[in-house]
Amino acid sequence: MNLQSKQILLGLTGGIAIYKSASLLRRLVHDEGVDARVVMTKSAQQFMTPLIFETFSKKPVLTDMFSGGIVSTRHIDLANDSDLILICPATADIVAKTANGIADDLLSTIVLAAGNKTIFALAMNVNMYENPITLENIQKLKELGYGFIEPEEGDLACNNKGKGRLAEERIIIEYLDTWLNGKHLLKGKKVIVTAGPTREYIDPVRFISNRSTGKMGFALAEEAVKEDGNVLLITGPTMLKPPPGVEVIRVESAREMGKVLSENAGEADFLFMSAAVEDFCPANFSENKIKKSEPLKEIPLTLSPDLVSSFRANNPKVCIVGFSVEIEDGKNRSIQKLVSKNMDYIVWNDPSKEGTGFESDTNDVLMFSANGDEWYFKKNSKRKIAEMIIQTVVRNISSLPCGMLAP
Ligand code: C5P
Repeated sequence: MNLQSKQILLGLTGGIAIYKSASLLRRLVHDEGVDARVVMTKSAQQFMTPLIFETFSKKPVLTDMFSGGIVSTRHIDLANDSDLILICPATADIVAKTANGIADDLLSTIVLAAGNKTIFALAMNVNMYENPITLENIQKLKELGYGFIEPEEGDLACNNKGKGRLAEERIIIEYLDTWLNGKHLLKGKKVIVTAGPTREYIDPVRFISNRSTGKMGFALAEEAVKEDGNVLLITGPTMLKPPPGVEVIRVESAREMGKVLSENAGEADFLFMSAAVEDFCPANFSENKIKKSEPLKEIPLTLSPDLVSSFRANNPKVCIVGFSVEIEDGKNRSIQKLVSKNMDYIVWNDPSKEGTGFESDTNDVLMFSANGDEWYFKKNSKRKIAEMIIQTVVRNISSLPCGMLAP
């Protein structure tokens, strides 16, 4: 467990389980060294006063959008400065507000400004939890990458029995630790991730490329760092900011990517080949910009070198995870690629499915292994899909000797 000096904003909403949050806060600050700020909604203050939370966090509790000093951008600062926001207890109301973009008090405004670094520790009446409206709101937020600590079954304060009790303190703290620090699955491992498109130049200013944005590859790099991997990200041109803790090498063409890959292959344990290497490459490159007046009727093309096949030929032991984008007969075509390129796993994207594809922040994929296993990762944020791919690959490694198809 390493939560030392992490900046956690604890949001308290109006549920009876709030009394457990006082003990949770004490443990986070006193035992785990967390730097906590507390925000209470109006309803939360009906159950408990701020004093106990001020005492445990050693800081004033924030309750109001408009009171105290300079307030104009306080919600934005609180959102930006926190490593994560934990809402505990989280009522059906705060989930519904977030799912619908409502920002009508300090807490909901911070949550909206913070994006998907909020975790909801759910606690509510079983009927409110099981109401399809609440379940739909939860599902919508999960797909956007928000975290959920599910409630437990048992006796509820309203005399009902069922799912709705706040999870145990230990489970909440473990969830926070995994969210921030991963499970250390890649400790001591060298991981190469390729991302983005490549550009194949016709002349100094024109090129052939594709719509890849690099989002999936950057998410894989981010998750691999979280899992303690020593991560090298080789990326084609993208607008994305690389995640902290990753070594980045930027390239443009497929040939450049292949060169950097082979130069850095030494001692690699994993290659996540998510780059959309452009298949076609102009047969000739004009050193000078081709003029409009020149009668250019066609651009002869050749196929780009197959980077992953060359990498495999020289690195038989590395675990290679490839990615395919296919619509018709996608499953079979993906498995054929897995076999012909001698990869260990392949992740199949079907861009005709809703919430998938190049620009999307979400994905919905199937993954196949060289020994015939198959996994479905249903629609979720690319970050969560990356986490599931990495966890599944690493956990199954013992049943799949990497490069098993290598001669
Ligand atoms: O483009 P294709 O569907 O064949 O891509 C499957 C896998 O092969 C991907 O992981 C991609 O990064 C890789 N690839 C490659 N070199 C190419 C084309 C694709 O390594 N020229």
